[in-house]
Amino acid sequence: MKYEIGMIGLGVMGRNLALNMERNGFGVIGFDIDPVKRQAAVEQFVGKQISVAQSLSEFFAALRSPKIVWLMVPAGKPVDAVIDAIKSFLKPGDLIIDGGNSHFTDSERRWKSLKKEGLLFIGTGVSGGEEGALYGPSLMPGGEPAAWPLVENIFKTIAAKTDEGAVCAEWIGEGGSGHFVKMIHNGIEYADMQMIGEAYFLMDRILHFKPEKMSAVFARWNKGKLNSYLIDITARILAEKDTKTGKAMVDVILDRAGQKGTGKWAAQTALDLGVPAQTFAEAVFARFMSALKQERLMASEILAGPKPDFTGDPQAFIDEIAQALYAAKICSYAQGFQLMRSAGKAYGWKLNFASVASLWRAGCIIRAQFLDAIRHAFERNPELNNLLLDDYFKEILVQTHPIWRRVIIRAVEFGVPVPALSSALAYYDSYRSARLPANLLQAQRDYFGAHTFERIDAPEGRFFHHQWNG
Ligand code: 6PG
Repeated sequence: MKYEIGMIGLGVMGRNLALNMERNGFGVIGFDIDPVKRQAAVEQFVGKQISVAQSLSEFFAALRSPKIVWLMVPAGKPVDAVIDAIKSFLKPGDLIIDGGNSHFTDSERRWKSLKKEGLLFIGTGVSGGEEGALYGPSLMPGGEPAAWPLVENIFKTIAAKTDEGAVCAEWIGEGGSGHFVKMIHNGIEYADMQMIGEAYFLMDRILHFKPEKMSAVFARWNKGKLNSYLIDITARILAEKDTKTGKAMVDVILDRAGQKGTGKWAAQTALDLGVPAQTFAEAVFARFMSALKQERLMASEILAGPKPDFTGDPQAFIDEIAQALYAAKICSYAQGFQLMRSAGKAYGWKLNFASVASLWRAGCIIRAQFLDAIRHAFERNPELNNLLLDDYFKEILVQTHPIWRRVIIRAVEFGVPVPALSSALAYYDSYRSARLPANLLQAQRDYFGAHTFERIDAPEGRFFHHQWNG
């Protein structure tokens, strides 16, 4: 029997994707350089129609032509090492798929260099964690367009489906575009998680709500327009008890966040492309700040802050937080889509934003009801410059911005840091400002460095220098 597809890298993601393909009737053979992982896979695959090869030659001999090899190995050097190790087994027309969280520039480079050798390459975003991989991930494939027909059926069959049956796998575009879109997904993921954390923190610091009580709030929010995977798991997490101490699980977890880097890449790319995506950056910085646990402990004894008492209706404040969270979320997604638009121009990708919003509706970490509204916005106007300009979202912000401001004012008054919620508001206020203070900044640059400036009464692109008197 010759297998349709091979999986290299039998960690939990690789194993679960292989199991997903097998369950859907595709013939899969797996391989891992690590004999321990091979053995674990053999044990897990008992009774399944998946083989585990004991060598690369056995693996490739068992694959049908054109050979399709899916890599689920750690991003970075391991991907290049595996590609180098397997190239000699491949012929022109064979396909390598990289499903790790690779940097899109690496995928762009691999696509170009493999193309020279006649090999097809797909760099695909895979979202949804272990469970998604097993039962239906959201897939964001990009690379060589000629490769898509070879795997379209497999990808669409194993991918997540929305309640209406829409498939969460669609071709993104050439080169590194698939991994670019996955990186934006993660930038949004970081911002969503940070903003949810801030909403939790406002209830904790200002209202002194216990996790269990907050769990009920998040569960209620999940029934409304904030309905999403991350709000759902937050409700579940807050209800969880530590078996060792009996305390709320969230209260025994150290407040020091880790990261693997994809959210940071999104913020770095925004800086590289000159796109304002401050909420992504704030979410990354918030993780860095959390990591300074010892310094924060020390500073908490030294630095002053306000200690007001809450007066007012807690329920009303909770409702305001929900509105603020929703408004901030819209601005964060607006940044993500703006970043994709700029990257599309810079890299020559024809990205279909309605399609991207659509394939994030199920399977992935940021899956949320409101992605449907984003999809509609880009269907109405594929050239939409910014999500905030869409009538539907514009109207939500007309209604919610005064409430959002009140939440930020409360946070500032109580000294509760809300970097993501407030940076999203600054994004909104900056974007809607016909005039920003950059005129003064230009004057300063010209004053100390003769950097020149444009004038409001001269054509754009003409630069002037002033002989400053002071
Ligand atoms: C997904 C996630 C996943 C990501 C983790 C860890 O879409 O399934 O984005 O790919 O790697 O969420 O990210 P951090 O360790 O950087 O928080």
